[in-house]
Amino acid sequence: MGPRKTMDGPWRQAQTARADRSDEAEIAKARATSYIRTMYDFAPAAIADKPALHADLRAAAQAIVTGEPDPIANMANIAALIWQFLPDLNWAGFYRMVGDELVLGPFQGKPACIRIALGKGVCGTAAATRETQLVADVNAFPGHIACDAASASELVVPIVHDGRLIGVLDLDSPSAGRFDTVDAAALEALCTLLVPALAGPA
Ligand code: SME
Repeated sequence: MGPRKTMDGPWRQAQTARADRSDEAEIAKARATSYIRTMYDFAPAAIADKPALHADLRAAAQAIVTGEPDPIANMANIAALIWQFLPDLNWAGFYRMVGDELVLGPFQGKPACIRIALGKGVCGTAAATRETQLVADVNAFPGHIACDAASASELVVPIVHDGRLIGVLDLDSPSAGRFDTVDAAALEALCTLLVPALAGPA
């Protein structure tokens, strides 16, 4: 089953339940917020085939950001999609370039360190060099910042739009060597595809 978008369903049931209570204020509120009716129900088709899985993720990601200009909302949905699609992760999300440092953005996983200076840790290294960091063993990476003690390997992709560093996409896994060059290339392709939706106004 490929990516799909469904409408109404539980929202309509909730609306009907509200209407049944004849609560006019609730009905007015439901009407006023009817623009939230779209539900997203994406699921990967190919779990065993890594390139196909990443292709499914890209398709779902492209669909979910289409028409939405807010970069934080888009980062939140992309982090959620990555978390849903890719196996064996304990953290997936964004750090945004704010001023001269990286600041924690939307993510899935345990609470994480909030600010990372350029050049520090795996994320700061990816940001400073603008090169993807594929780290098979985080304990072997000098200066690795351990936000979650469970993290054993990490993949960080810089996000650059029109020469401007927007931030980084960071994936952590509890398994050493979880990420390979197929993952790195696929996540780079994902970031390239999504960068206009993640960048926001210049
Ligand atoms: N390990 C990262 C810090 C961020 S967390 O993994 C979420 C680093 O070394 O930059």
